Amino acid sequence: MKIAILPGDGIGTEIVAEAVKVLKVLDLPFELESALVGGAAYEAHGHPLPESTLNLAKSADAILFGAVGDWKYDKLDRPLRPEQAILGLRKHLGLFANFRPAICYEQLVGASSLKPEIISGLDILIIRELTGDIYFGQPRGRRVATDGHFPGAEEAFDTMRYSKPEIERIAHVAFQAARKRNRKVTSVDKANVLETFQFWKDVVTEVHAQYPDVELEHMYVDNAAMQLVRAPKKFDVVVTGNMFGDILSDEASMLTGSIGMLPSASLNAKNQGLYEPSHGSAPDIAGKNIANPLATILSAAMMLRFSLNQAQAADRIESAVQSVLASGLRTADIWSEGTTKVSTVQMGDAVVAAITKTITKG
Ligand code: IPM
Ligand code: MG
Repeated sequence: MKIAILPGDGIGTEIVAEAVKVLKVLDLPFELESALVGGAAYEAHGHPLPESTLNLAKSADAILFGAVGDWKYDKLDRPLRPEQAILGLRKHLGLFANFRPAICYEQLVGASSLKPEIISGLDILIIRELTGDIYFGQPRGRRVATDGHFPGAEEAFDTMRYSKPEIERIAHVAFQAARKRNRKVTSVDKANVLETFQFWKDVVTEVHAQYPDVELEHMYVDNAAMQLVRAPKKFDVVVTGNMFGDILSDEASMLTGSIGMLPSASLNAKNQGLYEPSHGSAPDIAGKNIANPLATILSAAMMLRFSLNQAQAADRIESAVQSVLASGLRTADIWSEGTTKVSTVQMGDAVVAAITKTITKG
Protein backbone atom coordinates (compact mmCIF):
# COMPACT_ATOMS: atom_id res chain seq x y z
CA MET A 1 0.00 0.00 0.00
CA LYS A 2 1.65 3.16 -1.18
CA ILE A 3 0.68 6.43 0.47
CA ALA A 4 1.84 9.78 -0.89
CA ILE A 5 2.45 12.24 1.93
CA LEU A 6 1.97 15.86 0.83
CA PRO A 7 2.21 18.15 3.86
CA GLY A 8 2.15 21.49 1.98
CA ASP A 9 2.32 24.85 3.71
CA GLY A 10 1.63 26.58 7.01
CA ILE A 11 0.40 24.21 9.70
CA GLY A 12 0.26 21.46 7.02
CA THR A 13 3.71 20.15 7.89
CA GLU A 14 2.99 20.05 11.64
CA ILE A 15 -0.35 18.27 11.46
CA VAL A 16 0.72 15.77 8.80
CA ALA A 17 3.74 14.83 10.92
CA GLU A 18 1.35 13.80 13.70
CA ALA A 19 -0.84 11.77 11.33
CA VAL A 20 2.27 10.01 10.00
CA LYS A 21 3.26 9.10 13.58
CA VAL A 22 -0.18 7.57 14.02
CA LEU A 23 0.05 5.61 10.75
CA LYS A 24 3.47 4.25 11.70
CA VAL A 25 2.37 2.92 15.08
CA LEU A 26 -0.28 0.77 13.36
CA ASP A 27 2.48 -1.43 12.06
CA LEU A 28 0.87 -2.12 8.68
CA PRO A 29 2.81 -2.67 5.44
CA PHE A 30 2.67 0.92 4.21
CA GLU A 31 5.15 2.52 1.91
CA LEU A 32 5.14 6.25 2.73
CA GLU A 33 6.69 8.68 0.30
CA SER A 34 6.70 12.45 0.81
CA ALA A 35 6.81 15.32 -1.66
CA LEU A 36 6.52 19.08 -1.66
CA VAL A 37 3.29 20.74 -2.73
CA GLY A 38 1.82 24.26 -2.73
CA GLY A 39 3.96 27.24 -1.72
CA ALA A 40 6.69 24.92 -0.45
CA ALA A 41 6.97 23.34 -3.91
CA TYR A 42 6.89 26.73 -5.57
CA GLU A 43 9.85 27.87 -3.44
CA ALA A 44 11.85 24.73 -4.24
CA HIS A 45 10.84 23.97 -7.84
CA GLY A 46 9.08 27.10 -9.13
CA HIS A 47 5.70 25.33 -9.38
CA PRO A 48 3.02 24.50 -6.78
CA LEU A 49 2.40 21.07 -8.31
CA PRO A 50 5.69 19.86 -9.82
CA GLU A 51 5.62 16.93 -12.24
CA SER A 52 7.39 14.71 -9.67
CA THR A 53 4.72 15.41 -7.02
CA LEU A 54 1.90 14.77 -9.48
CA ASN A 55 3.50 11.50 -10.60
CA LEU A 56 3.92 10.35 -7.01
CA ALA A 57 0.24 11.16 -6.34
CA LYS A 58 -0.85 9.28 -9.45
CA SER A 59 1.17 6.20 -8.53
CA ALA A 60 -0.08 6.05 -4.92
CA ASP A 61 -3.10 4.16 -3.61
CA ALA A 62 -3.93 7.14 -1.47
CA ILE A 63 -2.70 10.64 -0.73
CA LEU A 64 -2.50 12.24 2.69
CA PHE A 65 -2.59 15.97 2.15
CA GLY A 66 -2.01 18.74 4.69
CA ALA A 67 -2.95 22.21 3.46
CA VAL A 68 -1.64 24.79 1.02
CA GLY A 69 -1.57 28.55 0.83
CA ASP A 70 -0.11 31.65 2.36
CA TRP A 71 -0.97 35.31 1.88
CA LYS A 72 2.57 35.92 0.71
CA TYR A 73 1.75 34.14 -2.56
CA ASP A 74 -1.38 36.23 -3.31
CA LYS A 75 0.50 38.39 -5.79
CA LEU A 76 1.73 35.46 -7.94
CA ASP A 77 0.09 34.73 -11.28
CA ARG A 78 -2.86 32.40 -10.70
CA PRO A 79 -1.21 29.25 -12.19
CA LEU A 80 1.64 29.58 -9.69
CA ARG A 81 -0.46 30.08 -6.56
CA PRO A 82 -0.48 27.29 -3.96
CA GLU A 83 -4.24 26.65 -4.39
CA GLN A 84 -3.51 25.45 -7.93
CA ALA A 85 -1.81 22.41 -6.40
CA ILE A 86 -4.98 21.06 -4.83
CA LEU A 87 -7.11 22.07 -7.81
CA GLY A 88 -4.58 20.36 -10.13
CA LEU A 89 -4.58 17.16 -8.07
CA ARG A 90 -8.39 17.07 -8.12
CA LYS A 91 -8.42 17.58 -11.87
CA HIS A 92 -5.54 15.27 -12.89
CA LEU A 93 -6.67 12.42 -10.65
CA GLY A 94 -10.36 12.90 -11.44
CA LEU A 95 -11.26 13.24 -7.74
CA PHE A 96 -14.88 14.16 -8.37
CA ALA A 97 -16.51 12.98 -5.14
CA ASN A 98 -15.71 15.00 -2.05
CA PHE A 99 -16.98 13.71 1.30
CA ARG A 100 -17.12 16.28 4.08
CA PRO A 101 -18.70 14.88 7.21
CA ALA A 102 -19.79 17.32 9.90
CA ILE A 103 -19.99 15.46 13.18
CA CYS A 104 -20.44 17.09 16.54
CA TYR A 105 -18.38 15.30 19.18
CA GLU A 106 -20.34 15.22 22.43
CA GLN A 107 -17.32 16.47 24.40
CA LEU A 108 -17.10 19.54 22.16
CA VAL A 109 -20.75 20.62 22.13
CA GLY A 110 -19.76 23.73 24.07
CA ALA A 111 -17.20 24.78 21.45
CA SER A 112 -19.83 25.57 18.81
CA SER A 113 -21.26 29.06 18.41
CA LEU A 114 -24.70 27.44 18.23
CA LYS A 115 -26.88 26.35 21.15
CA PRO A 116 -26.14 22.79 22.35
CA GLU A 117 -29.68 21.54 21.59
CA ILE A 118 -29.30 22.56 17.93
CA ILE A 119 -26.09 20.62 17.35
CA SER A 120 -25.83 17.89 19.98
CA GLY A 121 -25.73 14.55 18.13
CA LEU A 122 -25.23 16.22 14.75
CA ASP A 123 -23.96 13.85 12.06
CA ILE A 124 -24.38 15.05 8.48
CA LEU A 125 -22.43 14.31 5.34
CA ILE A 126 -21.87 16.90 2.67
CA ILE A 127 -21.02 15.41 -0.70
CA ARG A 128 -19.54 18.07 -2.92
CA GLU A 129 -18.93 17.56 -6.63
CA LEU A 130 -15.29 18.50 -7.00
CA THR A 131 -14.14 18.61 -10.62
CA GLY A 132 -16.83 20.57 -12.44
CA ASP A 133 -18.96 23.71 -12.09
CA ILE A 134 -17.67 27.27 -12.20
CA TYR A 135 -14.36 26.08 -10.65
CA PHE A 136 -13.22 24.40 -13.86
CA GLY A 137 -15.71 25.56 -16.52
CA GLN A 138 -14.26 27.06 -19.69
CA PRO A 139 -14.18 29.68 -21.05
CA ARG A 140 -13.00 32.02 -18.35
CA GLY A 141 -10.81 35.06 -18.27
CA ARG A 142 -10.67 38.79 -18.77
CA ARG A 143 -11.68 40.78 -21.80
CA VAL A 144 -13.28 44.00 -22.97
CA ALA A 145 -17.05 43.75 -22.78
CA THR A 146 -18.91 43.97 -26.07
CA ASP A 147 -22.36 43.88 -24.46
CA GLY A 148 -23.95 44.04 -20.99
CA HIS A 149 -24.36 47.17 -18.89
CA PHE A 150 -20.98 48.68 -19.80
CA PRO A 151 -19.86 47.80 -23.33
CA GLY A 152 -16.21 48.73 -23.84
CA ALA A 153 -15.35 48.29 -20.15
CA GLU A 154 -12.91 45.67 -18.82
CA GLU A 155 -14.68 42.60 -17.46
CA ALA A 156 -13.94 39.16 -16.06
CA PHE A 157 -15.99 35.99 -16.51
CA ASP A 158 -16.20 32.34 -15.49
CA THR A 159 -18.42 29.59 -16.81
CA MET A 160 -20.78 27.51 -14.72
CA ARG A 161 -21.48 24.20 -16.43
CA TYR A 162 -22.29 20.57 -15.69
CA SER A 163 -22.67 17.68 -18.08
CA LYS A 164 -25.24 14.95 -17.48
CA PRO A 165 -22.71 12.18 -16.66
CA GLU A 166 -20.99 14.46 -14.14
CA ILE A 167 -24.25 14.99 -12.28
CA GLU A 168 -25.29 11.34 -12.59
CA ARG A 169 -22.12 9.95 -11.03
CA ILE A 170 -22.18 12.29 -8.03
CA ALA A 171 -25.90 11.60 -7.55
CA HIS A 172 -25.16 7.85 -7.43
CA VAL A 173 -22.43 8.47 -4.85
CA ALA A 174 -24.88 10.44 -2.71
CA PHE A 175 -27.73 7.90 -2.88
CA GLN A 176 -25.35 5.04 -2.13
CA ALA A 177 -23.87 6.91 0.84
CA ALA A 178 -27.40 7.61 2.12
CA ARG A 179 -28.16 3.88 2.04
CA LYS A 180 -25.45 3.37 4.64
CA ARG A 181 -26.90 6.17 6.78
CA ASN A 182 -30.43 7.53 7.32
CA ARG A 183 -31.58 7.21 3.72
CA LYS A 184 -32.22 10.85 3.04
CA VAL A 185 -30.57 13.03 0.40
CA THR A 186 -30.97 16.79 0.14
CA SER A 187 -29.89 18.02 -3.28
CA VAL A 188 -28.94 21.69 -3.11
CA ASP A 189 -29.39 23.84 -6.21
CA LYS A 190 -30.35 27.28 -7.48
CA ALA A 191 -32.84 26.01 -10.02
CA ASN A 192 -35.00 29.10 -9.63
CA VAL A 193 -32.29 31.22 -11.30
CA LEU A 194 -29.59 29.09 -12.96
CA GLU A 195 -29.98 26.87 -16.00
CA THR A 196 -27.08 24.70 -14.80
CA PHE A 197 -28.86 23.94 -11.56
CA GLN A 198 -32.28 23.35 -13.10
CA PHE A 199 -30.48 20.67 -15.11
CA TRP A 200 -28.77 19.44 -11.93
CA LYS A 201 -32.16 19.08 -10.23
CA ASP A 202 -33.67 17.25 -13.24
CA VAL A 203 -30.76 14.78 -13.48
CA VAL A 204 -30.68 14.07 -9.73
CA THR A 205 -34.44 13.40 -9.86
CA GLU A 206 -33.92 10.99 -12.74
CA VAL A 207 -31.16 9.06 -10.94
CA HIS A 208 -33.33 8.93 -7.82
CA ALA A 209 -35.73 6.59 -9.65
CA GLN A 210 -33.12 3.86 -9.06
CA TYR A 211 -33.15 4.48 -5.30
CA PRO A 212 -36.80 4.28 -4.20
CA ASP A 213 -35.67 3.37 -0.68
CA VAL A 214 -33.92 6.74 -0.27
CA GLU A 215 -35.86 9.96 0.34
CA LEU A 216 -34.89 12.86 -1.92
CA GLU A 217 -35.59 16.52 -1.21
CA HIS A 218 -34.52 19.54 -3.26
CA MET A 219 -33.51 22.78 -1.60
CA TYR A 220 -32.33 26.13 -2.91
CA VAL A 221 -28.85 27.01 -1.74
CA ASP A 222 -29.88 30.17 0.11
CA ASN A 223 -32.49 28.25 2.06
CA ALA A 224 -29.98 25.44 2.70
CA ALA A 225 -27.54 27.98 4.18
CA MET A 226 -30.30 29.12 6.52
CA GLN A 227 -31.56 25.63 7.44
CA LEU A 228 -28.01 24.54 8.27
CA VAL A 229 -27.92 26.95 11.21
CA ARG A 230 -31.64 26.74 12.03
CA ALA A 231 -32.12 22.95 12.17
CA PRO A 232 -29.00 21.16 10.93
CA LYS A 233 -30.05 17.77 12.30
CA LYS A 234 -32.83 17.61 9.69
CA PHE A 235 -30.13 16.85 7.10
CA ASP A 236 -28.54 13.46 6.47
CA VAL A 237 -26.67 13.53 3.14
CA VAL A 238 -26.39 16.85 1.31
CA VAL A 239 -25.26 16.67 -2.31
CA THR A 240 -24.36 19.76 -4.29
CA GLY A 241 -22.08 21.31 -6.88
CA ASN A 242 -18.53 22.47 -6.46
CA MET A 243 -19.18 26.14 -5.65
CA PHE A 244 -22.15 25.72 -3.32
CA GLY A 245 -20.41 22.76 -1.67
CA ASP A 246 -17.35 24.86 -0.92
CA ILE A 247 -19.45 27.42 0.94
CA LEU A 248 -21.91 25.09 2.68
CA SER A 249 -19.17 22.74 3.91
CA ASP A 250 -17.38 25.60 5.66
CA GLU A 251 -20.67 26.63 7.22
CA ALA A 252 -21.44 23.06 8.31
CA SER A 253 -17.99 22.62 9.80
CA MET A 254 -18.54 25.46 12.25
CA LEU A 255 -21.70 23.80 13.56
CA THR A 256 -19.47 21.17 15.09
CA GLY A 257 -17.45 23.59 17.18
CA SER A 258 -14.15 23.24 15.47
CA ILE A 259 -13.07 23.00 11.91
CA GLY A 260 -9.92 21.52 13.45
CA MET A 261 -11.78 18.23 13.94
CA LEU A 262 -13.13 17.55 10.47
CA PRO A 263 -11.56 15.15 7.98
CA SER A 264 -12.42 14.89 4.31
CA ALA A 265 -12.00 12.48 1.43
CA SER A 266 -11.92 13.12 -2.32
CA LEU A 267 -12.35 10.00 -4.41
CA ASN A 268 -12.16 9.12 -8.07
CA ALA A 269 -13.88 6.30 -9.95
CA LYS A 270 -11.07 3.87 -9.00
CA ASN A 271 -11.46 4.60 -5.28
CA GLN A 272 -8.09 6.24 -5.26
CA GLY A 273 -8.41 9.08 -2.80
CA LEU A 274 -6.94 12.24 -1.46
CA TYR A 275 -7.48 12.76 2.25
CA GLU A 276 -7.13 16.12 3.91
CA PRO A 277 -8.41 18.09 6.87
CA SER A 278 -11.33 20.38 6.00
CA HIS A 279 -9.43 23.39 7.31
CA GLY A 280 -6.71 25.38 5.58
CA SER A 281 -3.04 26.16 6.14
CA ALA A 282 -3.63 28.78 8.88
CA PRO A 283 -0.38 30.71 8.28
CA ASP A 284 -1.12 32.90 11.31
CA ILE A 285 -0.51 30.00 13.71
CA ALA A 286 2.06 28.04 11.65
CA GLY A 287 5.23 26.88 13.38
CA LYS A 288 3.81 27.50 16.86
CA ASN A 289 2.99 23.89 17.72
CA ILE A 290 -0.60 24.84 18.61
CA ALA A 291 -2.61 23.61 15.59
CA ASN A 292 -5.10 20.77 16.06
CA PRO A 293 -3.82 17.62 14.30
CA LEU A 294 -7.05 15.65 14.85
CA ALA A 295 -8.70 16.50 11.52
CA THR A 296 -5.63 15.14 9.72
CA ILE A 297 -5.40 12.10 11.97
CA LEU A 298 -9.09 11.41 11.30
CA SER A 299 -8.44 11.92 7.57
CA ALA A 300 -5.83 9.18 7.81
CA ALA A 301 -8.52 6.96 9.36
CA MET A 302 -10.87 7.76 6.46
CA MET A 303 -8.03 6.87 4.07
CA LEU A 304 -7.58 3.47 5.70
CA ARG A 305 -11.30 2.78 5.44
CA PHE A 306 -12.07 4.09 1.94
CA SER A 307 -8.94 3.52 -0.13
CA LEU A 308 -6.83 0.94 1.72
CA ASN A 309 -9.42 -1.54 2.93
CA GLN A 310 -8.22 -1.37 6.53
CA ALA A 311 -11.46 -0.70 8.40
CA GLN A 312 -10.16 -2.16 11.65
CA ALA A 313 -7.16 0.14 11.73
CA ALA A 314 -9.49 3.05 10.96
CA ASP A 315 -11.69 2.11 13.91
CA ARG A 316 -8.63 1.95 16.11
CA ILE A 317 -7.63 5.50 15.23
CA GLU A 318 -11.16 6.82 15.69
CA SER A 319 -11.57 5.22 19.12
CA ALA A 320 -8.16 6.54 20.14
CA VAL A 321 -9.27 10.07 19.23
CA GLN A 322 -12.49 9.59 21.23
CA SER A 323 -10.60 8.40 24.28
CA VAL A 324 -8.09 11.25 24.08
CA LEU A 325 -10.98 13.74 23.99
CA ALA A 326 -12.71 11.92 26.84
CA SER A 327 -9.53 12.23 28.91
CA GLY A 328 -9.85 16.00 28.59
CA LEU A 329 -6.92 16.83 26.30
CA ARG A 330 -7.59 19.77 23.97
CA THR A 331 -5.59 21.85 21.54
CA ALA A 332 -6.15 25.60 21.81
CA ASP A 333 -8.95 25.75 19.21
CA ILE A 334 -11.19 23.40 21.20
CA TRP A 335 -9.99 24.21 24.70
CA SER A 336 -12.52 25.25 27.33
CA GLU A 337 -12.48 25.77 31.11
CA GLY A 338 -11.81 22.50 32.95
CA THR A 339 -9.93 20.78 30.11
CA THR A 340 -6.18 20.40 29.59
CA LYS A 341 -4.50 22.46 26.90
CA VAL A 342 -1.93 20.52 24.84
CA SER A 343 0.29 21.26 21.85
CA THR A 344 0.09 19.75 18.38
CA VAL A 345 2.84 17.24 19.19
CA GLN A 346 1.36 16.34 22.58
CA MET A 347 -2.01 15.67 20.96
CA GLY A 348 -0.38 13.41 18.36
CA ASP A 349 1.56 11.60 21.09
CA ALA A 350 -1.63 11.09 23.09
CA VAL A 351 -3.38 9.47 20.12
CA VAL A 352 -0.35 7.25 19.52
CA ALA A 353 -0.35 6.25 23.22
CA ALA A 354 -4.08 5.45 23.12
CA ILE A 355 -3.55 3.22 20.07
CA THR A 356 -0.56 1.47 21.64
CA LYS A 357 -2.71 0.74 24.70
CA THR A 358 -5.39 -0.99 22.60
CA ILE A 359 -2.74 -2.95 20.70
CA THR A 360 -1.11 -4.29 23.88
CA LYS A 361 -4.54 -5.05 25.39
CA GLY A 362 -5.04 -7.27 22.39
C1 IPM B 1 -11.58 23.78 -0.12
C2 IPM B 1 -10.77 25.02 -0.37
C3 IPM B 1 -10.34 25.02 -1.83
C4 IPM B 1 -11.61 25.10 -2.65
C5 IPM B 1 -9.34 26.12 -2.21
C6 IPM B 1 -8.10 26.07 -1.35
C7 IPM B 1 -8.97 26.05 -3.65
O1 IPM B 1 -11.49 26.15 -0.01
O2 IPM B 1 -11.06 22.67 -0.30
O3 IPM B 1 -12.75 23.92 0.27
O4 IPM B 1 -12.13 26.20 -2.89
O5 IPM B 1 -12.09 24.06 -3.07
MG1 MG C 1 -13.35 25.77 0.93
